[in-house]
Amino acid sequence: MRIRPGSRPEVNSSVRRDAGGKSAVFLIGFMGAGKTSVGQALSRRLGWRFEDLDERITARAGRTIEQIFREVGEPGFRSIESAALQEVVSELGPSPRIVALGGGAYAQAENARLLERAGVPIVFLDAPVEELWRRCAQQDLERPLRRDEQQFRRLYQERRPHYRKAPWRIETSGKDIESIAVEVALKLGFIPRANHKE
Ligand code: S3P
Repeated sequence: MRIRPGSRPEVNSSVRRDAGGKSAVFLIGFMGAGKTSVGQALSRRLGWRFEDLDERITARAGRTIEQIFREVGEPGFRSIESAALQEVVSELGPSPRIVALGGGAYAQAENARLLERAGVPIVFLDAPVEELWRRCAQQDLERPLRRDEQQFRRLYQERRPHYRKAPWRIETSGKDIESIAVEVALKLGFIPRANHKE
């Protein structure tokens, strides 16, 4: 797909609103997959509201993700994360939104089941682990589960089979954020394919 930087493809005026009357897209994938950046780009293109699950967690807790990990450990963080996800799903309705999940959320069976039951599109943003590690290194963001490269690779291998269960997968390697956002929108039928040369 070739998309000129800065070009704005025409958004389908009759944006598909299915998934049982709920319009939402959930973006999943490992740390560094671009869930937040792609979600924001998609939100700008479609005019849909964007939500980052980690932001909901920090806003509710009044603490950063690192503080939560320090105080209640990963198990404590996972329960807060599941509760936040349940809240998001319970709020889904006709007003469309794009939700970016933290890297571990979809790897928790109960969260994956919740989203599958909700019948919303789930898109796995994929990339080779070397690239994910490089992207994370370039970001000024504290990630409690990004320690050393070996542990990062191990965690990626453990989680990848879970991510692969998502109905949609997009390879993001070597692509810019805007192109990935357009690819998501095209794949899900939110932008008419006829408007694009591939
Ligand atoms: C986590 C990823 C983070 C955040 C938390 C745990 C993980 O989100 O939810 O640090 O378990 O992979 P990002 O994937 O947005 O970095």
